[in-house]
Amino acid sequence: MSDQLIIFDTTMRDGEQSPGASMTKEEKLRIGKQLERMRVDVIEAGFPAASNGDFESVKAVAELVKDSTVCGLARAFESDIRRAAEAVKPANSPRIHTFIATSPIHMERKLRMSPDEVLEQAVKSVRLARTLCEDVEFSPEDAGRSEPDYLCRILEAVIAAGARTINIPDTVGYTMPDQFAGLIATLIERIPNSDKAIWSVHCHNDLGVAVANSLAAVKAGARQIECTVNGLGERAGNASLEEIVMAVRTRKDFFGCDTGIDATQIVPASKLVSAVTGFPVQPNKAIVGANAFAHESGIHQDGVLKHRETYEIMQAEDVGWSTNKLVLGKHSGRNAFKQRLGELGVDLSSEEAINSAFAKFKELADKKHEIFDEDLIMLVSSDDAIDHDNEHFKLISIKAHLETGESPLSTIVLSDGGSEKEAKSTGSGQVDATFKAIEEIVSSGADLLLYSVNAVTSGTDSQGEVSVRLSKAGQIVNGHGSDTDIVVASARAYLNAINKLRSGMEKLNPQL
Ligand code: KIV
Ligand code: ZN
Repeated sequence: MSDQLIIFDTTMRDGEQSPGASMTKEEKLRIGKQLERMRVDVIEAGFPAASNGDFESVKAVAELVKDSTVCGLARAFESDIRRAAEAVKPANSPRIHTFIATSPIHMERKLRMSPDEVLEQAVKSVRLARTLCEDVEFSPEDAGRSEPDYLCRILEAVIAAGARTINIPDTVGYTMPDQFAGLIATLIERIPNSDKAIWSVHCHNDLGVAVANSLAAVKAGARQIECTVNGLGERAGNASLEEIVMAVRTRKDFFGCDTGIDATQIVPASKLVSAVTGFPVQPNKAIVGANAFAHESGIHQDGVLKHRETYEIMQAEDVGWSTNKLVLGKHSGRNAFKQRLGELGVDLSSEEAINSAFAKFKELADKKHEIFDEDLIMLVSSDDAIDHDNEHFKLISIKAHLETGESPLSTIVLSDGGSEKEAKSTGSGQVDATFKAIEEIVSSGADLLLYSVNAVTSGTDSQGEVSVRLSKAGQIVNGHGSDTDIVVASARAYLNAINKLRSGMEKLNPQL
């Protein structure tokens, strides 16, 4: 059995299925580049049949990413498969991932198909996919609740039809580690042509055991793990990439395999995904939580100072935590700026993009004397978050008044498709007043589902990174904004979300 574990990242597909985690094409390109930098083996970039926007995003990722396989999801329908094939075609290494449900409850109640019909449809789909792409993966959806005998029958048939990877999803996060490992071992043992495929698993975290199930499956012979950065994903999420990678690396003695992941890119990836989706990372989250390497008790601190390994099984630097490093200041030039971005792995494609980012850097350096790596990343990510072609509403100016005992007042001037409009409003706080003033102009009527502020670095002069989630008529979008002033950052985030709502980002969920 190979000692190489394939890491299949589905942050941009299953992760994006979390309500509110929709990503624009620009955001997907940025995440795709970071995943490639982290040396993820397979990037599932989306579900091309879901919407034109999804198709374009998958295609753009396939054009951009050179070193990782780029995969598109497709239901076991001819039209989905053709659309996925077209989207991933530009990739150096394209993959089609097709799936159909195999549990009794899904076949009877959702698909209304007999087991034989499902088998026939699966085989037909894999055959078609193989005519369009060499690398085809098949998943029996809800395998965790499917009958093992039936799974053996359908999986033997799809391997014979050309599926190279067989992925076993615990779609509803129902199984327990021993049971899931037993299922993987049974399938590998009982299916006569099982050696012709790579065995993969895809676990959901509804009962909090997605990582445990995935690791148990590795022990049972799985050699591809499907996972997401920060454990993002449908409902309670998927197995978290950072936990899987560091578990097999730290306990290579136990698992006997390793991944090709550059672990120093884990924390930057986590921060990027959190910034793009507006899903904060809990402080005590393994590997990427702010406290994951913080020793608070005196006994632990004393031990670590005497000998690090007394309480540390991994080193913070190995997963990309760096102490805030002062990089640039007000007098730094364009070349130093460009070089530092390059060192951080950010390639701004055109001179125009560099000039625009440099102008923003100068603006920030006027307000904040010390500019850290985190500031630079935020500066370019917040610009990326803006789809400049669909930026109907733009912030021109904001005036906010705060006085103890008075209602906060905000006066806002916006460009509304090119014409200047002003509105003012009071509110329970300055942010509330600002959002109400913006609503006076945009009249979106959207519901605010989430408002969160994070400090990008330490210190009161830190940039505030604001995420806003809005919902209207079933459509949910995230907006992001950053500034050293959180009221300005909030206004930017709100407008970013409003512009996304206006441009419409509706799409189909593959599993509905
Ligand atoms: O959870 C699931 O079953 C999936 C499949 C599409 C692989 O996401
Ligand atoms: Zn899933």
